[in-house]
Amino acid sequence: MPKHIIFDTDPGIDDALAILLALASPELNVDGIVTVHGNVSTEQTTENALAILELAGASHIPVYKGCDLPLVKESLLSPETHGDKGLGYANLPAPASKPQVKHGSDFLIERIMSQPNEITLVAIGPLTNVALALRKEPRIVENVKEVLVMGGAIQHAGNTTPLAEFNTFVDPHAAHVVFHSGIPITLTPLDVTYQCIFTADDLNRLLKIDSPITKYIADSTRFYMEFHDEYQSIQGCVINDPMTLALTFMPEICDYQNLVVDVDISTGVGLGNTFADFYNYEKKPANMRVAMGVRPRMFMDVFLERMEKLARSLS
Ligand code: RIB
Ligand code: CA
Repeated sequence: MPKHIIFDTDPGIDDALAILLALASPELNVDGIVTVHGNVSTEQTTENALAILELAGASHIPVYKGCDLPLVKESLLSPETHGDKGLGYANLPAPASKPQVKHGSDFLIERIMSQPNEITLVAIGPLTNVALALRKEPRIVENVKEVLVMGGAIQHAGNTTPLAEFNTFVDPHAAHVVFHSGIPITLTPLDVTYQCIFTADDLNRLLKIDSPITKYIADSTRFYMEFHDEYQSIQGCVINDPMTLALTFMPEICDYQNLVVDVDISTGVGLGNTFADFYNYEKKPANMRVAMGVRPRMFMDVFLERMEKLARSLS
């Protein structure tokens, strides 16, 4: 039986790769996509989600627009990282399909509550929608199967401020609500995602296949690689979100620790910083399972194999 997943996502170049990886994974059934502000506006992340599904012949999957703004902070977008339209140099046709009418947070509640212990939520953007769903219906804590969260930096430098990762910096208050809710979280912080670099050699392997999928991946990741080179002197691009998604069907890619993790919501330089109480000074029970080790090649091999399979199916 395939695992039922719902994305909460801000496509976004790496988010789009996570959606493609899910579509190429027979272990998974994508029940829906909820969009959120983050890499670009929610209007744009919603259009991008619809366009990616059309590119992959998966327009049957419903898309639900979520929150436009963080819970408390001003909006922060990242056109320098993902491009003005959020998919780098890729220019997909405007989608023919439209988002559903229901708000994304209401879809999360409805689907999780109607299928107890069935739904895996893959949250790979700022956590605004998830926090709102928790406030509207706290019982999703007991009814969701698992929540995979791409976010935070535990012992790794931030990628948005010196201390904070983008998703938790954009909406730290939402992250605080989610982290303290008791919902079953598996966190993939920058500590592991920054070991998963998609390189020019990886792209050249995919380009051996002539397909709209490989052309899209080339056009979107070329922008992302230029960003990583210019801002962080990384040769390639960090594909945070597909690595997170891969744990839904291949958890052995990572090693995990059960930790007490919190997020700084004070107004100083540490806003959005995520940290673990490794010595459990406060004697609290762990509030999440954190991926602190990763086998990068195991992940990249399965990512490339499945992108090749998807590309061939649509060539
Ligand atoms: O910090 C990386 C995360 O922020 C990724 O999910 C990326 O898509 C952005 O949302
Ligand atoms: Ca994302």
